[in-house]
Amino acid sequence: MNIMIVGSGAREHAIAAALQRSFTKPHIFCCGSSVNPGIRQMTHDYWTGDITNVAMIVQAATDWQIDLVIIGPEAPLEKGLADALWNVNIPVIGPKKNMAQIETSKAFARDLMRRYHIPGLPRYQMFHDMQGVRDFLEELGEGNYVVKANGLMGGKGVKVAGDHLQSFVEAMDFGSEILGRGQTFVIEEKLIGQEFSFMCFCDGEHVVPMPVVQDHKRAFVDDKGPNTGGMGSYSDASHSLPFLTEQDLNDAYRINESVIRALTKEFNDRYIGILYGSFIATRHGVYVIEFNARFGDPEALNVLTILDSDFAAICQALIAGNLSSGQVKFLHQATVCKYAVPNGYPDAPVKDVAIDISAVKNKSHLYLSSVHAVDGKIYAAGSRTAAYVGVADSISVAEEISEKEICAVKGPLFHREDIGTERLIRRRVDAMRGLRGQ
Ligand code: AMP
Ligand code: GLY
Repeated sequence: MNIMIVGSGAREHAIAAALQRSFTKPHIFCCGSSVNPGIRQMTHDYWTGDITNVAMIVQAATDWQIDLVIIGPEAPLEKGLADALWNVNIPVIGPKKNMAQIETSKAFARDLMRRYHIPGLPRYQMFHDMQGVRDFLEELGEGNYVVKANGLMGGKGVKVAGDHLQSFVEAMDFGSEILGRGQTFVIEEKLIGQEFSFMCFCDGEHVVPMPVVQDHKRAFVDDKGPNTGGMGSYSDASHSLPFLTEQDLNDAYRINESVIRALTKEFNDRYIGILYGSFIATRHGVYVIEFNARFGDPEALNVLTILDSDFAAICQALIAGNLSSGQVKFLHQATVCKYAVPNGYPDAPVKDVAIDISAVKNKSHLYLSSVHAVDGKIYAAGSRTAAYVGVADSISVAEEISEKEICAVKGPLFHREDIGTERLIRRRVDAMRGLRGQ
């Protein structure tokens, strides 16, 4: 079987590695934006260019006689790559454009939840202009709002009161700025609690959960500094997280399931791919921050590293519409993923600097990301560079492994030493206990 991966970051490296472990030994192909040597060494052929150029990607898939495509990032989903591939009878893991709106339009996602009475919806209002903005901010109250651009803005479209916005005036200025870029925006109630990522495989009918993961968006130790694509993440051997209750997990799963049902009804079509609910556990239960129509990055690295089932077989079942939970097994091990990123990331990263991975001991858990390879040398391109996933019986041992190995990636890079440490996890658990009044 010929399988093509779209995207060339660490998430796609983890997808390629999972496929390579398959008993069916698929031939792997990649369309990426740069040459990721980790993916390159696993592929039969590798195309580089603009991965949102739908016509070119469809051409590559046709030329390579691809049997199945896995789309990694959201941008090609938004451009309708899945639709175009299905139109030439190539099956795709990744929803069509209309269904991908669950990620690409915050207003669509919130309205869908409202219309289908899906729980976990914060108070929100959509704005096409500045009319009524001040009134809604006042209704939510000082320090209690979040302003979000409606469309994809590469992680820069959300500002939170108290963190990035210090007054109604600043909130209104950000709203105007979004309108100035030709977008609309949503204002919603600020939720207080612990965030977690809950990804499910969806074949159009069956919704099969993966282990829950916690990502770390802030650039620096102790959750300081600007937001990033995600500096690292962990999961527990139980497949839950130390601050979550059984009820939280069940509620989040039900929300994901309800969203799939709603999308199916709305578009009379199958949602095939991954639904990734980004949730927050609060004192009043589980709420939805947003949905993504793809694997999380770094979350995919945590879960795919411990996937014990055959990933190519899971993909085939997703297409066939007969996925069962028995077919999706993960090891009962904890994982800690740490990203090394260029100095100055995310605001002013150094670029095109050489890195050296030769000192990393177990390279099978090292995933390369925003890099390109030239003449056997690897250069960091400016975004997140490389991630290491430690796997062990406990989070703290997984953390030690991950910390040691990510330090072995040499270059002008930094990472968060605190991700997965006992101190940080205890803080999360205590904060949640405090909120629940325990
Ligand atoms: P997003 O791009 O939607 O994932 O938002 C980026 C970050 O903003 C999230 O990871 C949250 O930390 C924060 N955020 C988004 N919406 C809310 C909300 N309603 N309440 C509190 N924080 C939020
Ligand atoms: N971990 C954040 C994301 O994939 O969007």
